[in-house]
Amino acid sequence: MNLRKLQMKEINRQFWAQQSITNSSMLGGYDQINNVDIQQSEQFLLRNIKQFNTILELGSGVGRISEQLFIKHFKEIHLVEREAKFINESKRRLNQFNCLYYQMPVEQFEPKNYFDCIWIQWISMYLTDSDFCNMLQKFKKYPIILKENVSTQDYQFDDEDASITRSEKIYEILIKKCGFKIVDEEFQQGLPTDIYKIKLYFLKHLEF
Ligand SMILES: C[S@@+](CC[C@H](N)C(=O)[O-])C[C@H]1O[C@@H](n2cnc3c(N)ncnc32)[C@H](O)[C@@H]1O
Repeated sequence: MNLRKLQMKEINRQFWAQQSITNSSMLGGYDQINNVDIQQSEQFLLRNIKQFNTILELGSGVGRISEQLFIKHFKEIHLVEREAKFINESKRRLNQFNCLYYQMPVEQFEPKNYFDCIWIQWISMYLTDSDFCNMLQKFKKYPIILKENVSTQDYQFDDEDASITRSEKIYEILIKKCGFKIVDEEFQQGLPTDIYKIKLYFLKHLEF
């Protein structure tokens, strides 16, 4: 791994290690978008996913989405998250439910089960283009919902958390390069005007 990439990963790891164990930190302090986020995610999920046994979330944080959405529809939830304190909080919130936890970077996770949906929200921005593609390739057998901030510039870097916000054009190029097609897409509605637009994509690999 090159030095710049290592430095970016370390900045990002330290950033999350310092964040509070709250929904608010998952939302970048924009607590007011939680409800619209969950409501529109539910509509998008129910429109596109056909089976509701098992879901996997990558970069699951404190279990914000599981607690408000996935437990309503899925029998089993698998959560991948690097920070131990967020995994512990998820365990506390979801202790009544059938959940499996993987405390590790998403880059190291290897799927062993079948999942009816892979949920990837606000984690792609912490991955390089090649890590993003490697991640998608690992899940080519599965239906994927990708929810992510999009910028008007091709790439916008933020030194504070070492995030990369990409344009829709760049995401479309990467998605196609990895052999996936965009089956459904829409913008998140009801957002304040001073934040990035957020896009939802439903992806399927061309071979499946
Ligand atoms: C913006 S929060 C989003 C959490 C959740 N998806 C949500 O919407 O509530 C990003 C999360 O990704 C985690 N994260 C960042 N880079 C990661 C990586 N490489 N592997 C696993 N988790 C990572 C952070 O610790 C943090 O919990």
